[in-house]
Amino acid sequence: MRVDTGQVFKLEDYKPSEFLIPETKLTFNLHPTKTLVQAELTIRTRSGQPPNAALVLDGDELVLRSLAINGKVLDAASYTATPDRLTINELPQADTFTLSIETEVAPEHNKALSGLYRSSGNYTTQCEAEGFRRITYFLDRPDVLSVYTVRLEADSKEAPLLLSNGNLVERGPVESGALDSGRHFAVWHDPFPKPSYLFALVGGDLGSIKDSFTTASGREVELGIYVEHGKEERAAYAMAALKRSMRWDEEVFGREYDLDVFNIVAVSDFNMGAMENKGLNIFNDKYVLADEATASDADYAGIEAVIAHEYFHNWTGNRITCRDWFQLCLKEGLTVFRDHEFSADQRSRAVKRIAEVRGLRAQQFPEDQGPLAHPVRPRRYREINNFYTSTVYEKGSEVVRMIRTILGAEDFRRGMDLYFERHDGDAATIEDFLRVFEEVSGRDLSQFALWYHQAGTPSVQVAMRHDADKREVTLHLEQALAPTPSESRKRLMHIPLQFGLVGQDGRDIAVKAAGEGVEGDVIHLRKRHQTIRFTDVPERPVLSINRGFSAPIMLAMEQTAEDRMFLARHDSDLFARWQALTTLYTQALTQAYRTIRGGSTPEFAPALLALVGDTARNEALEPAYRALALSLPGEGDIAREIGQTIDPDAILAARNALVLAIAAANADDFAKIYEAMAASGPFSPDAADAGRRSLRNVLLDYLSAPAGDVKRAASRYESATNMTDRAAALAVLAHRQSGSPETVAALADFESRFRPEPLVIDKWFQIQATVPGTATVNTVRELMRHSGFSIDNPNRVRSLVGTFAAANQTAFHAADGSGYKLFADAVLEVERRNPQVAARIATAFRSWRSLEPGRQDKARQALVAISQHRDLSSDLRDIVERTLA
Ligand code: PHE
Ligand code: ZN
Repeated sequence: MRVDTGQVFKLEDYKPSEFLIPETKLTFNLHPTKTLVQAELTIRTRSGQPPNAALVLDGDELVLRSLAINGKVLDAASYTATPDRLTINELPQADTFTLSIETEVAPEHNKALSGLYRSSGNYTTQCEAEGFRRITYFLDRPDVLSVYTVRLEADSKEAPLLLSNGNLVERGPVESGALDSGRHFAVWHDPFPKPSYLFALVGGDLGSIKDSFTTASGREVELGIYVEHGKEERAAYAMAALKRSMRWDEEVFGREYDLDVFNIVAVSDFNMGAMENKGLNIFNDKYVLADEATASDADYAGIEAVIAHEYFHNWTGNRITCRDWFQLCLKEGLTVFRDHEFSADQRSRAVKRIAEVRGLRAQQFPEDQGPLAHPVRPRRYREINNFYTSTVYEKGSEVVRMIRTILGAEDFRRGMDLYFERHDGDAATIEDFLRVFEEVSGRDLSQFALWYHQAGTPSVQVAMRHDADKREVTLHLEQALAPTPSESRKRLMHIPLQFGLVGQDGRDIAVKAAGEGVEGDVIHLRKRHQTIRFTDVPERPVLSINRGFSAPIMLAMEQTAEDRMFLARHDSDLFARWQALTTLYTQALTQAYRTIRGGSTPEFAPALLALVGDTARNEALEPAYRALALSLPGEGDIAREIGQTIDPDAILAARNALVLAIAAANADDFAKIYEAMAASGPFSPDAADAGRRSLRNVLLDYLSAPAGDVKRAASRYESATNMTDRAAALAVLAHRQSGSPETVAALADFESRFRPEPLVIDKWFQIQATVPGTATVNTVRELMRHSGFSIDNPNRVRSLVGTFAAANQTAFHAADGSGYKLFADAVLEVERRNPQVAARIATAFRSWRSLEPGRQDKARQALVAISQHRDLSSDLRDIVERTLA
């Protein structure tokens, strides 16, 4: 474990490396506890002169076995080797030399899942961000690009499959006598220079499915997906998604694949979603395996998105990589944008956009408004692993989306083309990226660039006035940005707001703007206050603004409930229509919260309840959209709206009260639509069928909300023929009718049905971890002792412990502090094995200061208890200290 040293890395300290490694030859002798790694590195000085300083290579928990330069073993006096650093003081007087390093590693004992490790008996690697230094000493930084040749040797029975990056050049036991009996080898060569974080190998015994793809220019690419034996059929959807991604990247971004093979390997122990290693993507099996009996529609959508994301990295990340880790959003934000666009094209654009925004608000907004806030491009870090955040990824994607909004689709594409052309083979920066868009468009993006440099969610206030006599509309806009950690003074942002003035017939009124700041349907807000006048407006319009969520901001608008209801029925922008309804929900819920806190019973406007019913019935809207429109803001969303001295129990009560009111007002219609949405044909995971299932399951939740209304959900559970419906029915039973005999029976049935399927048991963990109320603290404690749980496996830990803390407000924030205590203990237990995963789930504490004083105090105590542990990992110490600061 990398123990915290207090060292801080700063963007302004960037210096190019004095030494380069144009060529890397690796030989692995794979063994569970004694893997030998021989690295033969061609080292060249950047200057072309003999070296004038020591060569310092990165390591992490390494054991050096031998060291030679140009074939000559080094004597002990000329270097120092520690587990985390190799310093060679005496170097040849030449600009180029060969360094041979032999290290020994124990994959079997590597529970951090970084570097070379074993998962279900297979050898696998994870090198981003700094895992390669756990394999051999190296210049482990993304701006050192090298051409790799990798020779893998292993026991033929234990690891008949040997994969690495690039193309296979040789394999076999041909050179008889050269290998010990029972061993074999394979040699892989990757012609594209790459940073060490993109290195990968896999050795093991896996099943596979194969396919092929012909690129636009006629190159034949062999595709392989490797999974546990017996699960091959479950990889079919991922393969289809891969081929669709490859075609889409050609059509939409003009990007073609560049090697003869593209392999994907699914492993069951993985810290993140997946990894874009050149030509050899390694995936959390959750994002590969799917069939109707074990995967939900959300799982299918997740697979499609992650397969695309990793594939798209081949150009945005691999061909053009990052100069340093401060530039992480250069590859991640851009690639998320690309995968979002892909999914939008494959499915429904409006539905996809709403889902993105819900995710952004639930994950990124609280990050940006709490103690862990950081710019999309951070300026400093203590532990880079903690910067794989929704700010870098999701807000990073929003920033790219805004560039497109500002430039328009055509100039955006020209900018991307120039970026690929100019920077292919480079380790680039955000400045490089912005420059291409400035060049193709002639626009000045310097103010816009603040989206990369300033943390925090801007807020925009809007007021509209209509002057009937003058036939004029005036908009007043004002922007503000609250201070964030280490950024007390903020500069004004360039905020692109897509808008429309909606007439009484529901159509947009064609407008003429007087003065600057409006371009087509986009308002460019660049000053603190901005006033925009529209002339020749025939009637009082209703303002629809931030359409499509064109900017990731908080919007405060003076608008009547009637106007919002009008937009919720008529806005031509489907995102804005959904937003209008969601704002109405939020207002009703915060008011209900205050009523409940005041000791009274909340009531809801009949017009709102009727609007919900009308939306549910509106067949002009696709079912998936209606399902989203019927989904109330989550407890976390409501908490964010309230802001401070939060009482999670009152939030839950307010939300339940609105659910019951909507259900009571629309019971008959909901029951009818519920029946109408029943499946008619065989199962398909496509968006249309998934949409019908999601509407049906949202309605099931409403219909099962009244106490005792358990029958429909119980029979839905029993008759379910796919995982979406089965898990949804189980969640409704567990969350709405907790403790009923039907719920107990269904939970037991689910467990016995799916015991051999860890990914499905994860759903069972998640559903139970999110049952509202304090009693869940004990449930989680007991489930941690369940035979299906493993503290070593990230998916299990996230499903049970992570979900409990991140998605169960009333249990995690139990007033007596028992939820915090359970969680803090679990985090420390995870940390001893896997600091990255521990640090990630520990971010659930981030909003602790917005709680009411009693809970705040208990949360702080739990955080302090963690921070007082000695030898905390750099990962966990960084999160805990920033959260407490
Ligand atoms: N780069 C991976 C991605 O595609 C994420 C990742 C980061 C995976 C670090 C493993 C370790 O987003
Ligand atoms: Zn990525």
